[in-house]
Amino acid sequence: MKRIGLSIIVLALIGSLATAQVQLKAFVGSRQNPDLLNQLVEPFEAETGIDVVFEVGGNTSEVQQQYLNTVLQSKSSELDLIIIDVVRPAQYAAAGWAEPLNAYFESDAELQALLEEFLPGPVEADYIDGTLWAMPAYTDAQFLYYRKDLLEQYGFDPPTTWSEMISQAQAIMEGEGDPNLQGFNYQGAAIEGANCTFLEPLWTAGGDWRDADGNVTVDSPEGRRAFEFLLNTMDIGVTKPNIAETATDDSRKEFQAGDVIFMLNWGYVWARANNDADSQVVGKVGVAPLPAFEGFDSATCIGGWQWVISAFSDNKDEAFQLIRFLTSEDVLTVQAAQDGRIPARYSIYQNPEVLEAAPHYGQFFDVIVNARSRPVTPFYDEVSQLIRTTVNAVLARSMSIDEALETMQFGLEDIVGN
Ligand code: GLC
Repeated sequence: MKRIGLSIIVLALIGSLATAQVQLKAFVGSRQNPDLLNQLVEPFEAETGIDVVFEVGGNTSEVQQQYLNTVLQSKSSELDLIIIDVVRPAQYAAAGWAEPLNAYFESDAELQALLEEFLPGPVEADYIDGTLWAMPAYTDAQFLYYRKDLLEQYGFDPPTTWSEMISQAQAIMEGEGDPNLQGFNYQGAAIEGANCTFLEPLWTAGGDWRDADGNVTVDSPEGRRAFEFLLNTMDIGVTKPNIAETATDDSRKEFQAGDVIFMLNWGYVWARANNDADSQVVGKVGVAPLPAFEGFDSATCIGGWQWVISAFSDNKDEAFQLIRFLTSEDVLTVQAAQDGRIPARYSIYQNPEVLEAAPHYGQFFDVIVNARSRPVTPFYDEVSQLIRTTVNAVLARSMSIDEALETMQFGLEDIVGN
């Protein structure tokens, strides 16, 4: 008896020593606030004895993916967990880069119950034909950020149509007489977000990139209207001439410096513009749903990030424990309140502390839930590359609208069309 007892203790000790030696490497982008993530995992490390290290990669979604393509194509076991954009789970599943997560749950009922705690948008992206490939870290949506102080000063309500937004911007720019003040700023660089730069005016003109039968419908009056709107705001000086060079975080910095009246951007801007020490717009930030063309409905792009376990990880069980922790209500609540990460879990929308820190989560819950997807396809790299480079070329005035619509129409038909 004694000897058995002793060997159990010895085995248990060896077991815990083995666990203590596990180090998980998680990949995140520089915009995902690795400093906060490092703090957040401390209790997990203390409780499990697992060490967590964040490897920080590129500043934009597509730059991160270019790096990850190399790591994953070589089947490297270097990364255990990866945070990926909401546009990518289908691609990861098809490439065999993500570990299917179903088997890590005790039962399918447990898995289904957990999924019900999350918003439908991220779940649709992560749970494909009965397989869970990723778990939502946070969701996202583009909003119209505006200078609340300036709109109030000039007696304007947040605009609901694009033409109203333009005339308000013109009136404020004229009244302020500040040559640095931009009327309307968005992402014109050839980055992932430029897909939304085109899709949003397309949707709010009543169009879509394909119809209910799957036919690509980009080369359409609505597609033309989207581009004409973007070029027109530049022609009349409401948008700066070099918007084709502007990436997501450039927009945020310009807004935060007090140089922008209206801006399209993602959830994270709220916390940065209101909390950063260098922000010139603390307390002056308004958030509204995107305007639409007269007679059409507002629409916005869904964004957000998901945790996957690399199919090549040597520490999958521990990685799953970490995913459960990183997608727990406690962690997501801190990120929502302090870091502008729009909650992927329903319950957080009831949290008074979070709603006080970010009132628009409650006010525009329907906007968040109804945000629309970019094309969902295993060939997303190709689709994104086509749209974002074409949009950028139009904004840089190196491609005509006609040529752009044709290029995207034929290109999309080739990649995903009927
Ligand atoms: C944000 C969104 C993400 C989007 C990216 C584009 O991070 O959450 O979904 O693709 O911006 O730049």
